[in-house]
Amino acid sequence: MRAIEIRNKYLNFFKAHGHSIIPSAPLIPENDPSVLFTTAGMQPLVPYLLGEHHPSGKRLTDYQKCLRTNDIDEVGDNRHLTYFEMLGNWSLGDYFKEESIKMSFEFLTKELGIPVEKLSVTVFAGDEDCPRDEVAASCWKKAGILDGHIYYYGKDDNWWIAGETGPCGPDTEMFYDTGKPACSPNCQPSCDCGKYVEIWNNVFMEYYKDEKGYSKLKQQNVDTGLGLERMAMLLQGKETPFDTEIFKPIMDKLVELEKVDLIESRRIIAEHLRSSMMIISDGGRPSNLDRGYVLRRLIRRMIRHMNKLQINLDEISTLIDLNVDTLKGMYPELEKNREIIKSVIIEEKNKFVRTLANGEKEFNKEVNKLKNAGKNIIDGKMLFRLYDTYGFPPEVTKDLAIECGMEVSMDEFDKLFKEHQEKSRAGATQKFKGGLASTGEMETKYHTATHLLNAALKQVLGAHVHQRGSNITAERMRFDFSHDSKMTDEEKKQTEDLVNKWIQDAIPVERLEMKKEEAVKMGAEAMFIEKYGDIVTVYKIGDISIELCGGPHVSNTKELGHFKIKKEESSSSGVRRIKAILE
Ligand code: ALA
Repeated sequence: MRAIEIRNKYLNFFKAHGHSIIPSAPLIPENDPSVLFTTAGMQPLVPYLLGEHHPSGKRLTDYQKCLRTNDIDEVGDNRHLTYFEMLGNWSLGDYFKEESIKMSFEFLTKELGIPVEKLSVTVFAGDEDCPRDEVAASCWKKAGILDGHIYYYGKDDNWWIAGETGPCGPDTEMFYDTGKPACSPNCQPSCDCGKYVEIWNNVFMEYYKDEKGYSKLKQQNVDTGLGLERMAMLLQGKETPFDTEIFKPIMDKLVELEKVDLIESRRIIAEHLRSSMMIISDGGRPSNLDRGYVLRRLIRRMIRHMNKLQINLDEISTLIDLNVDTLKGMYPELEKNREIIKSVIIEEKNKFVRTLANGEKEFNKEVNKLKNAGKNIIDGKMLFRLYDTYGFPPEVTKDLAIECGMEVSMDEFDKLFKEHQEKSRAGATQKFKGGLASTGEMETKYHTATHLLNAALKQVLGAHVHQRGSNITAERMRFDFSHDSKMTDEEKKQTEDLVNKWIQDAIPVERLEMKKEEAVKMGAEAMFIEKYGDIVTVYKIGDISIELCGGPHVSNTKELGHFKIKKEESSSSGVRRIKAILE
C-alpha cells in the first residue's frame, strides 16, 4: 500500500467515526517560540487539549508534517528520518481509552489488514503519579489482542509528554512483529534489535505537568500518532523507508549520478533534501540561528555527501525537480513553491562552496606554518577552529591532511566537538523546556498587540504588508512582514501612535467562529490560509483588524498598556522585522 493510500484510508476511517479532518499545520509553528519545528500532531492543538473549544469539534483527525532533529547524526542508517508525516486522531474530552483502542485495533487489522499475530501492545505499568493501566490492557484483550502480546512498562516507555512541561499522560503503543528471529529469549517490544517496530502511539492525555508536578486536566483527551513512512515500509515488506515509493526515485537517481557507491551518503542526501524542501516550502530560510541553522545544516550536510559521492553539484536542480514530482501528490505545496525551493537551496549551495574554498585556504596557511615548524600533526584544536569558525567539515580537513602527508588528531577534535554538541543540544532542550504554547498574561497581550501592529502597518505603509512570521515571549514581541525598504522614523512613529490610539480607544476584541469562505470574504488575514479547516476562529478588533487565529487574546485593547517599537530591521529579502514591547 502506497503512503498516500495509507494516509487517505486513515483520514477516511476516522471521518467515518465522527472525526473532522483538519489540515496539517505548517512545519514552522506560528506564535510559538518554545519550539523550532512542529514535532508532533498534538503540538498545534495544545490550547484545545487544555480545554479551549475547537471550531471543528471534539473529534479531529489529520496528517501533520513533523521534523525532529535530535537524531540528525543517525540519518544514513536504515531507519532514522528528520522529516516525517504523523497521522493522528484526537478526542478533545470526548471518547477515551475503550473507543480509542477499539478504533486503532479495527484500523490496523481490518483497514490495513495486519494479521493479529503480528501485533503486540504495551501499556503503562503504574507508579506514584498514575495507576497501572489495567483499563487499557483489558480494552486490548476485548478488542482481540492475543494473550501474551500485552506488556507493561514504566514512564520511560509508556508515558508521553512533549518536552518538560505540558499536557501528558500514560500511553499505549502498538508494535509490529517483522518476523525477524528474536535476539534472545527475552526479546520484547521494548528491545531495539529490530524484531518489533513501534507503529502507533495512543496517549491518554489527562494530566498536566508543570514545575511542581502532575495535576489532572479539565478533560480526558486522546492524542495519537502513527508514523506514515514507517507504516508504508512495513506494509510494503521493505527493509527501510528508503525502499518505499517516497524515496525510491531519488535513491535510484543518485545511483545513476554518483561515481562513488556509498549507501549511507545516498540516504543522507535523499533524506535531507526532502526535509529541506518541506521546510523551505513552509517559509523557512537558512541562517545562523535556530530553525534557520537547522535548515542550513541539512542543506550543507547534503552537499557534503554529494561531494563524497562525486556528484556534480549542478545536479541539485535535477534532484529537486525529481523530488517535487515524486512528492507533489502528497504535498501540492511543493509544486507551488518549486522555484523558490530551488533558488534557496542553490544559493545556500553557492555559499557553502565559498566556505569550503575559504576553509581550504586557511587550511593551507596553517599546514605551511606547521611544516615550517617541522611538525606533521594537525591537532584537534585546529580542526575544531576550521570547523567552528569557517564551517569547514572535519572529514574534509582529514582528507586534505592525508593528501598532503599530515596526520590529524581526530580524538581531540571529537572531544571538543562532543562538548560543543552538548552545549548546543542543551540550548535546543532549553527552548523546549518552556513547555508548549505557554501563554501567560503577557504573551496573551502580545498576541493582541501583533494584530494591532499588523493593521497599523497596513495603514501606514500600504496594503502590501502581510505577516510573514511572529515570535512572542513574555518580554517582547517580534513581527516579520512583507515590505521592501527600511521604515523611516516618521513611519515608525505613526505606527506606534496608531497602535497606542487603538489601545486608548478601549476596543473590544471579539472571538467569532465562521465558515472559512465567509472569513475570507470579510477580508480576514491569515498567514497560512490552507492550514485552517472549514470552520475557523476569527478575532475581530472593531473595524481595525480581522484575522484568522487560534488565540488567545485579551478581551479589550485597553488591557495592553503602552506600545513601543524597539527596533526595525531587515529579516530577509523583502521582509522587515519589528521588535516591540508593551510597557
Ligand atoms: N503525541 C504522541 C507522539 O508523538 C502521539 O507519539
